Amino acid sequence: MSKIAVIGTGYVGLTTGACFAHLGHDVVCADIDVGKIRSLQTGDVPIHEAGLEELVREGLESGRLSFVVDSADAVCGADFVYLCVPTPQSDGGSVDLKHLKAAAAEISAHIRHGAIVVNKSTVPVGSTLLVEEAMDRPDIAVVSNPEFLREGTAISDFLNPDRVVIGADEPTVADRVADLHSSIAAPVMITDPASAETAKYAANAFLATKLSFVNTIAAVCEAVGADVDDVLTAMGYDQRIGGEFLVPGPGWGGSCLPKDTRAIISMADDAGYDFSLMRGVLKANDEQFKRVVDKVESVVSLSGATVALFGLAFKAGTDDTRNSPALEIAGLLLDQGAKVRAHDPAVAAVGIDEITVLDDPYAAADGADVLVVVTEWDEFRLLDLDKIAEAMVSHHVVDARNIMDREALLSRGFTYQGVGRN
Ligand code: UDX
Repeated sequence: MSKIAVIGTGYVGLTTGACFAHLGHDVVCADIDVGKIRSLQTGDVPIHEAGLEELVREGLESGRLSFVVDSADAVCGADFVYLCVPTPQSDGGSVDLKHLKAAAAEISAHIRHGAIVVNKSTVPVGSTLLVEEAMDRPDIAVVSNPEFLREGTAISDFLNPDRVVIGADEPTVADRVADLHSSIAAPVMITDPASAETAKYAANAFLATKLSFVNTIAAVCEAVGADVDDVLTAMGYDQRIGGEFLVPGPGWGGSCLPKDTRAIISMADDAGYDFSLMRGVLKANDEQFKRVVDKVESVVSLSGATVALFGLAFKAGTDDTRNSPALEIAGLLLDQGAKVRAHDPAVAAVGIDEITVLDDPYAAADGADVLVVVTEWDEFRLLDLDKIAEAMVSHHVVDARNIMDREALLSRGFTYQGVGRN
């Protein structure tokens, strides 16, 4: 078993640390956020991620997982140092690498000879070299090991991944990182750092493309009178296409897909390639947010209308509202003079004064003209529709996730618009 340091305790770092401790390694996680580290030391996990708190507590109890503020303390005894710091988007869509460089510079003097630095943050090609330069420690190897963790299922994605990708210049170094995953039954693919870094972007860019395609097919279905559920089911049987990630929605969002698609466009641009296909994918996504608003506008005049927005998280199973389609749609509604009353089972506040967030769905529906379902929470399928009808002043539903019971709504006098359905 190895000694592992993890720098950064966001979704990726915390999942990585807790899962490696679960696999039997000794893990120390570091973060500059003192409050967060104090919470984690007591087993309190500040993010909503299924199974994570249990794994953190298991790690604390076994003594295999600990949390410190100072990254020097974390790395001094480590055989492997995982960099899991944020890589936010900067102006123009490129990736801001300041946290990565700062973390590399900070740990440099404290890493022991022979340790391996593993870059798990999503970073453009060349970042492995950049970390090497920032550390200025020729005796330390730096490898790329991109994460493919979905929020909400990050633990099972880590412990049962489709693949582990390791990008390293030295095969022996790659083998040592691969060994850390020996108890995981997944193909381990070893390649060079540039290919590993590009593979991460390419995977997310493809997923975004698939989703924009699905959403535009839904628009075609509406135009020609076809049913998107049947169309996608028929498509998904084709093994070359596959049925996963084939569900239309309000547009895609989250902390990764929007950032990574822009980053790959920017990375290609810098290298002299115009990734116009990807620009189209982004444009289709912006149009999808507008299409949801158009559906609202088809039943009420937006100025002065009250919209009950069901869902704020970018998808079910998380409390994350970063780049959430719900907030994009709320912004468009507010711009047109609508009032927005929102409810989400996992989100209590969004920090936008104009959006009234209520912890009860029926209170959010109170006085509303239109109900818009944006996040696919199971809770919304189980709503008491009679109570919703009683709370609303007009009875219109725009179901941007196709999860509501259309017949039950129609029988109560609601109008119903889904995505790609007629
Ligand atoms: C994504 C990638 O899936 C993961 O591999 C990567 O490492 C991190 O980014 P995540 O951001 O957690 O994960 O979200 P994901 O589950 O991919 O969903 C992205 C968006 O697409 C969400 O807004 C979701 O609601 C939407 N979506 C997803 C659909 O609209 N339809 C689908 O069928 C699937």
